[in-house]
This record gives sequence, C-alpha cells and structure tokens, in this order.
Amino acid sequence: MQHTTVNDCKIIDIRKYTDNRGYLSVIEGGIDIPFEIKRIYYLYMVPEAARGAHAHKELQQLMIATSGSVHVTLDDGTEKKTFVLDKPWKGLLVAPGMWRDLDNFAGGTVCMVLASEKYEAEDYIRDYDEFLAYKNS
Ligand code: TYD
Repeated sequence: MQHTTVNDCKIIDIRKYTDNRGYLSVIEGGIDIPFEIKRIYYLYMVPEAARGAHAHKELQQLMIATSGSVHVTLDDGTEKKTFVLDKPWKGLLVAPGMWRDLDNFAGGTVCMVLASEKYEAEDYIRDYDEFLAYKNS
C-alpha cells in the first residue's frame, strides 16, 4: 500500500529568526512542511521506556525535540534509519507507512509532533508482522 521508504523521511532546518532577544522558530503548514497541520501533540516526562512501536498508514508528521533530545528510528520494512533530534530547529519529516521507535530520551525532553490528520485509531498499525504484510501488499 504505502511504498514509501526511509529515504522519503528527512531532517529539515526549521526557519529561525535570531536577534539579541534570542531565537524564534516558525512552521507554517503547507509552506515549511508539505502538509496542513491538523493536530499537535507532545511527549514529555518520558521515563526510561521507549515509545512509538507503531506505524501510520496515511499520517504525515513532523517531529521536533523542542527541548532535550531523542533518537527516532524509522523502518520501512526493508531499511532502518536512526535520526537524532537534539535541536529545537531540527524537524524530522516522517512519511506515511513508517514503523517508528523513539528512545534515548534525555531528561526533560519535550518531543512535539505536528500531524497532518486528526487522531484516528484506524490509521495505526501496532503489530510489526501486520506492518510488514501491509508494506508488501
Ligand atoms: P500512543 O499512540 O500509545 O502513544 P505513542 O505515540 O507513544 O505510541 O498514545 C497514548 C494515548 O494517547 C492513547 O490512549 C491514545 C491517546 N492519543 C489521543 O487520544 N490522541 C492523540 O492524538 C494521540 C497521539 C494519542
């Protein structure tokens, strides 16, 4: 179904405006990222345990560690790639059809996610074998 690969995912430099008052970063849906933003959620106060371990069929996302750092491993069923999010101006564009695992959260990390769709439980694949079958269908 989603024949996307990890090469469709990339780190983008989020626009930033700097002066003697500090930094300001901005993301406009459809301009700085290739989708309109319908939802924002964020992960914080994450203990040692990893998060993620699922894929989305249609959802596109931009992930940003607005504070702290986290490792995001994306897996297209064939290839895996790990991205380090450690700057508030580094965003990871995640294409649909990617299994993702988030780990190595530094203490105090806030990981913000901009999403192309509202929350839809039906868009999730939470079983890895089901994910592989989906990618090969
Ligand atoms: P979950 O998908 O398990 O988090 P992770 O992305 O780390 O795997 O989501 C945790 C809970 O939050 C789950 O009960 C569903 C709920 N949730 C919403 O209600 N809306 C949302 O937009 C998201 C992302 C999660």
